[in-house]
Amino acid sequence: MRQGRTWVRHVLGNVNGVHSWRLLSTTPLSTGFTLEQQSCQWRPQWAIACGGAAAVVSLIYTNTPGDHNCNRLWTLSRRPWAATSCHEPSGSFGTTAIHAGQPPDPQSGGVVPPISVATTFAQASPGAHPGCQMPTSYGEGFDYGRSTNPTRGQLELCLAACEQGKHCIAFGSGMAAISGVVSALLKPGDRCVVVDDAYGGTQRLLRHAVEHMGISFDLVDLTEMSKLEAALRASPFPRLVWVESPTNPTLKICDIEAISTLSHKYNALVVVDNTFASPLLQNPLRLKADIVVHATTKYIGGHSDTCGGVVIVNDDSLATQLRQVQNTYGAVPGPFDCYLALRGLKTLHVRMPEHQKNAQAIAEFLENHPAVERVIYPGLKSHPQHELASKQMRGFGGMVTFYIRGGLQESRSFLESLRIFAVAESLGAVESLAEAPAVMTHHSVPAEHRAAMGISDNLVRLSVGIEGKDDLIADLAAALKAASKV
Ligand SMILES: Cc1ncc(COP(=O)(O)O)c(C=O)c1O
Repeated sequence: MRQGRTWVRHVLGNVNGVHSWRLLSTTPLSTGFTLEQQSCQWRPQWAIACGGAAAVVSLIYTNTPGDHNCNRLWTLSRRPWAATSCHEPSGSFGTTAIHAGQPPDPQSGGVVPPISVATTFAQASPGAHPGCQMPTSYGEGFDYGRSTNPTRGQLELCLAACEQGKHCIAFGSGMAAISGVVSALLKPGDRCVVVDDAYGGTQRLLRHAVEHMGISFDLVDLTEMSKLEAALRASPFPRLVWVESPTNPTLKICDIEAISTLSHKYNALVVVDNTFASPLLQNPLRLKADIVVHATTKYIGGHSDTCGGVVIVNDDSLATQLRQVQNTYGAVPGPFDCYLALRGLKTLHVRMPEHQKNAQAIAEFLENHPAVERVIYPGLKSHPQHELASKQMRGFGGMVTFYIRGGLQESRSFLESLRIFAVAESLGAVESLAEAPAVMTHHSVPAEHRAAMGISDNLVRLSVGIEGKDDLIADLAAALKAASKV
């Protein structure tokens, strides 16, 4: 394995290179990773061993005379996840999110890989793309920033691992990722079935863009299998079934495994927009879905400072189609956004429990408040799919929806009276946000469909952040008091 002169260049932590090397030889590690060498012209050798709380990292280089300019990279690859139950809390999520696809910088040893900003890459000979052996280039090497980028590749590797999937393709926003799936898989004449409470932007794309391309769609309540079956039997047979769970904004829980099993009987592919749950709480590919979409703008980024989207699949040919769309349509994320998404992802497993703790307390507080008509939170026993959520998810998330008593005047007064919650669209970040879907996120949904979905003027959606629970409850209590005086 070693060729040429080997020396320990850096040793991080309090172990020496020999010790680290011994750790390397003990792979697969108990942390859930195996180590995989990516050889390149220099044949550098990195040993990365992660052991529970004490991460041990050493860099061992091998110099082969005559090699000059090659990136060196090791990647952490997934061990066979099939061995674990998807309903078990994943003890290794944090390790995956922090390390997968992102070894320390081989040149400096910096534990955060540098952001790669280059839009073009020097070729030693025409057509000889550098970095062909680097996992971040997927074996294609780097030629032009739209086609491949090392930082984007790190995000894609990391999110594929977090979603327990094989391929991840990153886009410039959640909507760009959704458009990517639609462009890759639907052609004129095709039909798709969409959960009736899908995100307003997804519905807008389907209504305004897709309908103009000769594609049709049906909005169906996917909590009822008989309705799905009827839609699957109708002609033309749908090519795609589009699921969200929890849905936005009425937080319905769809049975992903049952929907996938039924849809596959009718040869339809199942897409799950997993933005509300995040890969920490739910892995749709493990529940037999074919395609997972995330707006990384939300829980993955987690700080309201980056926009992005990803599509994750297991199937190689689907991945090829999606990569073609990514490159051809060019809706790619910039390297800084990829870096911010990667940075946010590293603390998702720390943030989400706080979101959930606050959300549960707020849902219970609202449920007992006289100015509130009804509360929807999957963690409440009163939620119609509470049991399914307990089975399918590893937590109930940070989104709470409720109906304030009254109408638009009351919900407006409530929102205007909030002091800690910001009245804003979006969700999933550390700061708490509140909005009225009927006039904000779902305004573009036709009024009749909003009414059918229960997206009325008195519906309020909260994205519960990780501020102090008592401060948030006091803020809501004061605003509800102000609203009840209207
Ligand atoms: C469930 C869901 N999917 C997709 C998106 C679109 O993400 P983006 O705003 O990054 O385009 C959103 C945005 O709110 C969303 O809530």
